[in-house]
Amino acid sequence: MKIVFASRNQGKLNEIKSMLADTKVELISLTDYDGIPEIVEDGKSFLENALKKAKIISGITGETVLADDSGLTVSVLNGEPGIYSSRYAGEKATDDENNAKLLDKLKNVPPEKRTAYFQCVLVLYRADGSFESFAGNWQGQIIDEKRGSNGFGYDPIFWVPEMKMTAAELPSAVKNTLSHRGQALAKLKNKLLSCC
Ligand code: IMP
Repeated sequence: MKIVFASRNQGKLNEIKSMLADTKVELISLTDYDGIPEIVEDGKSFLENALKKAKIISGITGETVLADDSGLTVSVLNGEPGIYSSRYAGEKATDDENNAKLLDKLKNVPPEKRTAYFQCVLVLYRADGSFESFAGNWQGQIIDEKRGSNGFGYDPIFWVPEMKMTAAELPSAVKNTLSHRGQALAKLKNKLLSCC
């Protein structure tokens, strides 16, 4: 089964390829196609954004497409940064700038109120317009300074209580078994193994 992955992020592609290695899926990178435009993520939810990407790319390629969207939700900030996670501190913000903005917003918030979770939604969209979605949630807490240098994004300030370290201190193989993306991928994989 051929599936086009709706992202130019090589790291994510490799992660998904290795998790689907024992299925019959042939995962194709978006970079193998010419003329695919950047898709604006202007949906109101992770699902809307992933679905939009999947639908447009399936329309262009005529193939089954896998698309994802993810981000961090902080309860005390009414869900911020949420769907704006990658551009929290501005359109071209770096991970450091996004982390700094979040730490500043939480500076007077006590540890017990700093709960947060990462969310990931994957959409598998077929050329006939049918689709399925798979979600993962990873619960944790935002600490008040950065720790660790693995991973990306908010990992250095995302405390994983059961491991007693931040996501940026976890080896990537461990992060992949616990994370929102790992959970969503495991659900997708079960589905693919049961049907294809
Ligand atoms: P996207 O799914 O690539 O659009 O990612 C959205 C944004 O959410 C990223 O730029 C990060 O800021 C944040 N994010 C998503 N997943 C993770 C993660 O596993 N660790 C840290 N930050 C993440």
